[in-house]
Amino acid sequence: MSTTRVLFVCLGNICRSPTAHGVFQHMVDQRGWQDKIKVDSAGTSDWHIGHPPDKRTVQAASQRGYDLSTLKARQACRSDFHTYNYILAMDQNNLRELQRLCPENYTGHLSLFLHFSSQELYEEIPDPYYGGARGFETVLDLVENASQGLLEHISTQSENI
Ligand code: 4NP
Repeated sequence: MSTTRVLFVCLGNICRSPTAHGVFQHMVDQRGWQDKIKVDSAGTSDWHIGHPPDKRTVQAASQRGYDLSTLKARQACRSDFHTYNYILAMDQNNLRELQRLCPENYTGHLSLFLHFSSQELYEEIPDPYYGGARGFETVLDLVENASQGLLEHISTQSENI
């Protein structure tokens, strides 16, 4: 059985990509697809390596039933392109950094995460780090929407789901 591996990437790996990690993992778990889809997240920077997600991120996610408490930040690296079938960036800056790291022969899917979203207002997930509480809700809204689209996409691509 082939496994689909998904990596979510933002700048710090403490706000947006851990949210995507937790929300998407929750949807995978709800369907019992833990063996079919593996989920991880990383940052393009090394600023928060080893840190848990931002408290505001954990709190906002928890209010919607997502547990991010076990996650720890790490930095994205070249070897991720040998592991992950989907590498999904939260914004254009993250995507540019990943394109710099990406081997020429990468056969997986590297794009903005919101490529899988059904809404058209946002192309990127705005960085909530320096803003107020509303920003973390926007992140969750966008992540929930795009996660649904990504799961549907993967299930139509994969023979064994
Ligand atoms: P993230 O948000 O990329 O969604 O994790 C940020 C986290 C930390 C910083 C910037 C953005 N920072 O400047 O430390």
